[in-house]
Amino acid sequence: MRGGSAVAALTLCTSVLVLVGNQASAAAGCSVDYQTNQWDTGFTANVTVNNLGDAISDGWTLEWDFGGNQQITNHWNATITQSGQHVTAKNPDWAKGLATGGSHSLGFQASYSGTNAKPTSFKLNGTACTGGPVETTTTTTTTTTTTTTTSENPGNPGDHVPNPYAGATGYLNPDYVDQVNTLATSTGGALGTAMRKVAQNSTAVWMDRIGAITAGRGLRGHLDEALRQQAAAGRPVVFQVVVYDLPNRDCSALASNGELEVSKNGLARYKAEYIDPIASILGDSKYRDLRIVAIIEPDSLPNLVTNTAKPKCAEAKSSGAYVQGIQYALNKLSAISNVYNYLDIAHSAWLGWDSNIVPAVQLYTDVVRGTTKGFGSVDGFITDTANYTPVEEPHLTDPMKTVGGQPLKSAKFYEWNPYFDEADYGAELHRRFVAAGFPSGIGMLVDTSRNGWGGANRPAGATGSTVDEYVNSGRIDRRLHRGNWCNQVGAGIGLRPQASPRPNFDAYVWIKPPGESDGIATKTSGPNEEGKQHDPMCDPAFRGDQQSNGGNLTGAMPGAPHAGVWFPAQFKMLVENAYPAL
Ligand code: GLC
Repeated sequence: MRGGSAVAALTLCTSVLVLVGNQASAAAGCSVDYQTNQWDTGFTANVTVNNLGDAISDGWTLEWDFGGNQQITNHWNATITQSGQHVTAKNPDWAKGLATGGSHSLGFQASYSGTNAKPTSFKLNGTACTGGPVETTTTTTTTTTTTTTTSENPGNPGDHVPNPYAGATGYLNPDYVDQVNTLATSTGGALGTAMRKVAQNSTAVWMDRIGAITAGRGLRGHLDEALRQQAAAGRPVVFQVVVYDLPNRDCSALASNGELEVSKNGLARYKAEYIDPIASILGDSKYRDLRIVAIIEPDSLPNLVTNTAKPKCAEAKSSGAYVQGIQYALNKLSAISNVYNYLDIAHSAWLGWDSNIVPAVQLYTDVVRGTTKGFGSVDGFITDTANYTPVEEPHLTDPMKTVGGQPLKSAKFYEWNPYFDEADYGAELHRRFVAAGFPSGIGMLVDTSRNGWGGANRPAGATGSTVDEYVNSGRIDRRLHRGNWCNQVGAGIGLRPQASPRPNFDAYVWIKPPGESDGIATKTSGPNEEGKQHDPMCDPAFRGDQQSNGGNLTGAMPGAPHAGVWFPAQFKMLVENAYPAL
């Protein structure tokens, strides 16, 4: 790619200005918003430059100096070069203009050691970004120099980029936004204000039955709205769709059973009536500039790893319906270049033990290898969809730490599972998948919509002389048991959706829309028209069994409606217990 477009802008200016003399005044000005997410050796930054001066039509350059040894390793939505501490970011080809009042966001990943102070000053086309317009005198006798740079990821619309979330903005589902804002208005006060903030975050659209493809605004209506949002934002929009209708769905539970059954021609119907129409809509060239993330079949392959003692899971396995259904979906969707496939892979409290993670990685590897594009048919994996396991247990960072002579992982709550949280589980999955042959560029996602665990009961540290005391005092996950999954009391909204939050993680995302129920709390006479029914794990008075939750109470909220239905009391609790607070 050719660089130096900002230089071209100056040259162009020269020829115009010569007509009025050798000097001209112009208003220039800018402000910069510099946000980082950092870990001990690295960070990602989102940098938004706002143009407060005259419109720029033919290219711009943003410059700053790092104060330490920060070294950029990867970047997007700008061509970035670094020389020592000095950084030069030039517009991508598709964003040469910056209107007055307009902004552009770019991002990068960098390493550092020591401290990571924010740069103290920025310059846009040579003018310091002091937050307001300043009069500048431009001389027309400019010496031009040309620099040649390359961009690793300019992110042109329609490209299949390494990380679809980088430099993009998330789709806001207007139906969800309305629902949240209506409740916020009737609630009022500080809580209402906090509720409204939830609606500013992107959530996924669930295709949870054939009818969902066309019901209401339907898949096309959502995609049209996503195009509108993309045009307004001036940057790529990520539209997240959940593919969730396998025959014998939710085979080890009842709450999210679906409409298709293996024994009733379910696999053929899944292909013809569900995947084919979805693929044909997503493949419409009209939508090619959107970044479409497909979350593939939550809980399905994990059930084949651990739950084949349940007849419906055994049938899903012996018939090949889950594996063939997923392979069919991957084949259809990976043929569309702007679709990004992420396979659901449960969460740490389900597959963390070696006895589960080893066969799980094997199964997923076999499934993906068996697709037309092989490893090229997936972009990564997602953990914690619709679950509550935290991204990090801040007070229990080392499962091998001993208390009273025993490792923390031996505590009753962890049952020797060495993965306490999604950050560790996801990093380990990435390592294992790459070792199994997947390209290292695959990325992890975590659904953080409901795993925040804030509020008054969030512990500030861990103490105690036995592992159980220590773990129970220190864990932020306040569930009665890690196997509890339905409408958990005490849960809160988690980390906000964000791109590249840690190495090998493409994003934190909100797949389960906060406030939509996991399952109905009271007994029903049978499945409803969508196949949903009561699962005892959603009954607050029920004690589970040894395998599912160690015989504890379910910890479910009372009064919950069917899975997927708006549950205002749960939404209120999730907002109150948000961490970070809203
Ligand atoms: C559940 C439901 C599904 C719903 C989704 C999001 O899994 O079964 O119908 O769309 O959650 O709330």
